[in-house]
Amino acid sequence: MLTFKSMEKIAIASGKGGVGKTSLTLIIANFLKNKGYKVGLLDADIHGPNLVQLLVSNDDVSSSKSDKGTNQLVPQIINNFVVNSIDFSMSKKEATIWRGPLVSKVIKHLYLNTKWGQLDYLLIDMPPGTGDAYLTILDTLEIDKILLVAVEDDFCISNLHKTCSLINKLNKQSLGIIENLSENFSVPSSPVISKRIKNEFDDEILFVLPRLPRKIFYQEVNNLDKLRRYIPENFLI
Ligand SMILES: Nc1ncnc2c1ncn2[C@@H]1O[C@H](COP(=O)(O)OP(=O)(O)OP(=O)(O)O)[C@@H](O)[C@H]1O
Ligand SMILES: [Mg+2]
Repeated sequence: MLTFKSMEKIAIASGKGGVGKTSLTLIIANFLKNKGYKVGLLDADIHGPNLVQLLVSNDDVSSSKSDKGTNQLVPQIINNFVVNSIDFSMSKKEATIWRGPLVSKVIKHLYLNTKWGQLDYLLIDMPPGTGDAYLTILDTLEIDKILLVAVEDDFCISNLHKTCSLINKLNKQSLGIIENLSENFSVPSSPVISKRIKNEFDDEILFVLPRLPRKIFYQEVNNLDKLRRYIPENFLI
């Protein structure tokens, strides 16, 4: 089992909102968990945390606690994942009306002061855009590995170029692109890589997920019944 220092820390990013970063964070987490790995989840989307909501279908989430001895944040164990999110400290309908420096401080606190324990992977669900959270996670906290999510869509592609430029400037390593919400099929259930995404980016396209009916997709994120076959057996391992 790996220690905090040697665990794989991977940010799931895009640049564009609503392309499936949070969903893919959970899909990958479930994939790794099913392979026997211990997975932690850090929600770095301070203004729009959705990770916990997607993880637990009911409202049964207890609030954040600290360890009295060490003062560290105690993460919650949900579906065998070790999870921390600002969601545990806020009431459900309350907005985080915070400027960038405070957002960065909170992300640092969640990452550095959580009692993660021994994990094999820590997956970090990034917010949309390329703002403060990116500089904090990639630069200040020195997370080096990024999985990019792309949709064959003008806005997504344009924002993804910006994210790639940020990653290059910070000398970070993209592990590759996951294409999501694909509507290109060779045979009915088999999506094919978008030629446009392939041509516009140097990064390898690791796998492609189809656009599924919404209701089915929500269930799939946590049970991988239909999506499992699209993920290569040796993905990240
Ligand atoms: N392959 C898919 N098939 C069907 N629906 C999908 C798929 N991927 C994502 N969705 C849906 O798209 C919406 C956005 O997904 P998600 O919240 O994971 O994106 P995000 O990139 O994390 O968004 P944000 O930038 O707002 O955090 C959700 O309603 C999700 O269920
Ligand atoms: Mg999200």
